[in-house]
Amino acid sequence: MVTGVGAYLPPDIVTNDDLARIVDTSDAWIYERTGIRSHRQAPSDQPVSELAAAAAREALAAAGRTAADVDLIIVATTTPDNTFPATATIVQRKLEAPVGIAFDVQAVCSGFVYALAVADGFVSRGQSRCALVIGAEVMTRLMDWTDRGTCVLFGDGAGAVVLEPGPDTGSTDDRGILGFSLRADGTKQDLLYVDGGPSTTGTIGKLRMQGNQVFRHAVVNISEAVVAASSAAGVALPEIDWFIPHQANQRILDGVAKRLGIDPCRVISTVAEHANTSAASIPLAMAQGVTDGRIREGDLLLLEAMGGGLTWGAVVLRL
Ligand code: UT7
Repeated sequence: MVTGVGAYLPPDIVTNDDLARIVDTSDAWIYERTGIRSHRQAPSDQPVSELAAAAAREALAAAGRTAADVDLIIVATTTPDNTFPATATIVQRKLEAPVGIAFDVQAVCSGFVYALAVADGFVSRGQSRCALVIGAEVMTRLMDWTDRGTCVLFGDGAGAVVLEPGPDTGSTDDRGILGFSLRADGTKQDLLYVDGGPSTTGTIGKLRMQGNQVFRHAVVNISEAVVAASSAAGVALPEIDWFIPHQANQRILDGVAKRLGIDPCRVISTVAEHANTSAASIPLAMAQGVTDGRIREGDLLLLEAMGGGLTWGAVVLRL
């Protein structure tokens, strides 16, 4: 079960007006098409592991745990400090956590949903008593600052949860991950990708996206994954207390909620202030809902995401 949630946002705020000074765009266009007002940008000398470790410390404190308790660290990131080692091992060193299991998950914006499902396997098999699952990104490093179709959409940040074994009575009242569904379709890679890498160009590359096609795919396919995850969990969608989607675009959040018949006031949205922080967006939104008192222990949460790959998926969990 999730026993603690934490977040970290770099302090520097970039507004749509700031972006309009770099590319041919406007606050009105960005807000109407995406719901974004601003995003955070980490300074260039701040590695993603630092954001991840800060969010992890907050999650551990919320769980009443220390780094000494941690035996598994999974970092979902598409912007690692280095090609290797895994950012999770760097976070382990920074937290001074003991020798244990640490690795990264690369499923881009779906990374946190994938990582939760992976961590649940370790926890439910007794392989981990205290797992850190972190989504952390510095997406602004992947931007082509001449491409207005992408550079206005992404931000930096990190969110983390502590996962521990919970009661396992087989009831949907159990706290913990109740069900999930994960999907990938590698034939749609050219819709959203980074045009570089260690074994191709030898460079980091820049993010490329055919936004309107990704948009269409998101609204249609996320709904199917959500239905599959709730069916695996044995819950009906009207039972969901909080819908916590990946924060790519307010119009996608609204479209998916409408298709699924979810009341808009049950949707946690941070897209206006965070923009799209890829794998960090769901734990950041979770942390926001917990901090402002909307999400409480025992609530039934539905998480979903879609990103490069294409990958997508959903998790149903009771907090
Ligand atoms: O996290 C991973 C998943 N990613 C997503 O889910 C992103 C999904 N896609 C989207 O959010 C939207 O497709 C966008 C926000 C990226 C774009 O919105 P859209 O309504 O699909 O616009 P579009 O791409 O069809 O472009 C419409 C027009 C174009 O101009 P013309 O060809 O109609 O003259 C673009 O050149 O808007 C133009 N445009 C802009 N105008 C002002 C594109 N970007 C901008 C901009 N400012 N920043």
